[in-house]
Amino acid sequence: MTERRVVVVTGASRGIGAAVAARFASEGWDLTISARGVDALEERAEALRAHGGRVLSVPADMSDEEAVAALAARHLEEYGRTDALILNAGMGSMGAFADFPARRLDKLYQVNVRAPFQLTQALLESMKLTVSKTVGAKVLAISSITGVYPEPDLFAYGSTKAALISMCETFNLEQSVHGVSATSICPGYVDTDMSEWTKGEDAIPADEMITGDDIAHLAYSVTGLSRWAVLPQAIVTRPGANMHRA
Ligand SMILES: NC(=O)c1ccc[n+]([C@@H]2O[C@H](COP(=O)([O-])OP(=O)(O)OC[C@H]3O[C@@H](n4cnc5c(N)ncnc54)[C@H](OP(=O)(O)O)[C@@H]3O)[C@@H](O)[C@H]2O)c1
Repeated sequence: MTERRVVVVTGASRGIGAAVAARFASEGWDLTISARGVDALEERAEALRAHGGRVLSVPADMSDEEAVAALAARHLEEYGRTDALILNAGMGSMGAFADFPARRLDKLYQVNVRAPFQLTQALLESMKLTVSKTVGAKVLAISSITGVYPEPDLFAYGSTKAALISMCETFNLEQSVHGVSATSICPGYVDTDMSEWTKGEDAIPADEMITGDDIAHLAYSVTGLSRWAVLPQAIVTRPGANMHRA
């Protein structure tokens, strides 16, 4: 087992995941990063290696059970330990409840809920290995404010994000006593490709959105908590009266 701390970041090729991966790399951690697009992922891995640590890049589609299992196996083979697991890869989808296609709901649950569950389960023993009297291992699930405060046309996406929040809470009830705890991070709009549709003068200017670096800072800070401090959830809102909306 390597001595250096290791983080796994899914959806690390751009957006929030790329910012999180960059933060951990700059703090001297080794990384396993994943996403579907091979070229963008390898390009990101090269950039992260400039910080001097090891970076393993494993392409995987989170809707593919075998690919998720292979990601976990490859990570364990490379490092044998997991100090932090960032469950970030996710897909969005809008649509009214009345005519939302059930098949799209299945896909959302595969990517946003099933894969995070599968990965956390597969890496749980390797997270326990890193726990000491003071330092614990942390799971950080990038949920959404929509999982806390529902919005019209976002029932499907919002319910997957609410499921992540619940997963983290139950995980803590069972595992935090062993030094592994989970935090769901629930942001409003973050300036990434995913929020592109809502940017603009009549909507929300990109430069007034939460930044990927904000979420990276928060995620990294949680890993600095001792194993005796469990943070079940962190809601990140934008300024103003819009507090309970994305
Ligand atoms: N942006 C927001 O306003 C916002 C707000 C709250 C929560 N979130 C959540 O934050 C997380 C990251 O979002 P983001 O805004 O950074 O999105 P993004 O810029 O679209 O990036 C998504 C990342 O996930 C990867 N990905 C997407 N689908 C995947 C799949 N099926 N399997 C594996 N990897 C996949 C993408 O790479 P490939 O396409 O190459 O796979 C990319 O690296 C998501 O869970 C999202 O729901 C976002």
